[in-house]
Amino acid sequence: MTSSTIAQALDRLGYGVYLIGVKTPHKMNAMTAAWVTQVSSRPPLVLVAIGKTHYTSELIAEAGAFSVNVLRSDQYELARRCGFGSGRQTDRLAGVEVAFKTTGAPVLTECAAYLDCKVVERLEAGDHHLFIGEVVEGSDTGAPAMVYRSADFF
Ligand SMILES: Cc1cc2nc3c(=O)[nH]c(=O)nc-3n(C[C@H](O)[C@H](O)[C@H](O)COP(=O)(O)O)c2cc1C
Repeated sequence: MTSSTIAQALDRLGYGVYLIGVKTPHKMNAMTAAWVTQVSSRPPLVLVAIGKTHYTSELIAEAGAFSVNVLRSDQYELARRCGFGSGRQTDRLAGVEVAFKTTGAPVLTECAAYLDCKVVERLEAGDHHLFIGEVVEGSDTGAPAMVYRSADFF
């Protein structure tokens, strides 16, 4: 079994495409993520896997909160903008309308649905940090959501 065979099989797992929003007193950022899943219903908990070297990981650790914005199927350019390079030196949310809900994490005014999350646990898994967030607020527009296909991005 080669690592490329494993990678090909892993690519068959299904994901959506999300923007993870975060805000500290000195910086606001958004990062595209596919590795997002619900892990409890009572209380409602979601898990996001964020690369340890990603700026977003530092920011979530500092803020103690994040938002999960479910991208609409027509928001591909925004997914690309927030999915490559780093937000450390740039303002990825320039020109994007955001609102602030319970936790203060930025929520996209235009998206299919959002979850506003308070970090309750941070774990390590290989090269990623796993942030588990309790969903303290959320809303759904009913708009069609983007489905992750690696060939659309990589
Ligand atoms: C479609 C797509 C899905 C992605 N999913 C994840 C993910 O689940 N976790 C992750 O750490 N990075 C993921 N990335 C990569 C990050 O979005 C990318 O490295 C980003 O530029 C990091 O930004 P930051 O350094 O400002 O945090 C994904 C990228 C794309 C295009």
